[in-house]
Amino acid sequence: VPMLSLNNVFSQTELDAFDVRVSTLLQKQGIAVSTLTYCVEPKFDGLAVSLLYQNGVLVQGATRGDGQRGEDVTENLRTIRSLPLRLPPTAPTLLEVRGEVLMLKHDFARLNTEQLARGQKTFINPRNAAAGSLRQLDSKMTAQRRLSFFAYGIARLEGDTMPETHEQALQQLRQWGFPICEHVQCVQGAAGLWQAYQQIEQQRDSLPYELDGVVYKVNDFALQQQLGFRTREPRWAVAHKYPAQEALTVV
Ligand code: IVH
Repeated sequence: VPMLSLNNVFSQTELDAFDVRVSTLLQKQGIAVSTLTYCVEPKFDGLAVSLLYQNGVLVQGATRGDGQRGEDVTENLRTIRSLPLRLPPTAPTLLEVRGEVLMLKHDFARLNTEQLARGQKTFINPRNAAAGSLRQLDSKMTAQRRLSFFAYGIARLEGDTMPETHEQALQQLRQWGFPICEHVQCVQGAAGLWQAYQQIEQQRDSLPYELDGVVYKVNDFALQQQLGFRTREPRWAVAHKYPAQEALTVV
């Protein structure tokens, strides 16, 4: 299953247009919708990975690459403490999970302090540090960096029934032992999206990880299927970016 990208919106007007576009597309297909339910979750500033579990065992982990073919980073992913290597017996026979590898702000600060103490180069931001750590040729090096993982979707499932909504999929993933972000919320319509966008923006500085926006996803999988994809982006989801953070420095 290809790893896709997301279209971006940058304003409330574009957000409203997204909601109208989704409703209109569904209406054209004969699906009457009054107010749509969406899931809103942080757009983590890390690296997308795909994890394949066979009979409950992690057998392969890959980066996104060009969306079809990524790098095999299985050994490095195995060193991430919060990432389950083995799922409970209730897990399906085949499961492909999508999520984001990132470095928490405090782990990034600690890493840079250690790099300085060792006389080594510091990293520009947590995303660069996470990318550098995941792409290490020696997994012992990755193990020394504290990476984190959040699951945000199921790409393939065999031997069990697929949940009906994104929210249920996240709950199911949590039951199988995957870390799920606690700031995911379900909201109604464009007004709900806008409220969640502002609420998460206010929390942004106090969150333990960096995010560059939020992602809106149509909650109902049957509706997602009706909406389908454009070339590389789903029609049922969009990223709403926050303005770049500004700070003063002495040059
Ligand atoms: S869903 C088909 N959810 O955004 C939808 N992506 O531009 C696939 N990302 O490469 C992605 N947080 O690395 C999704 N909560 C989230 C995300 C998220 C960050 C990244 C992901 C992907 C990129 C898409």
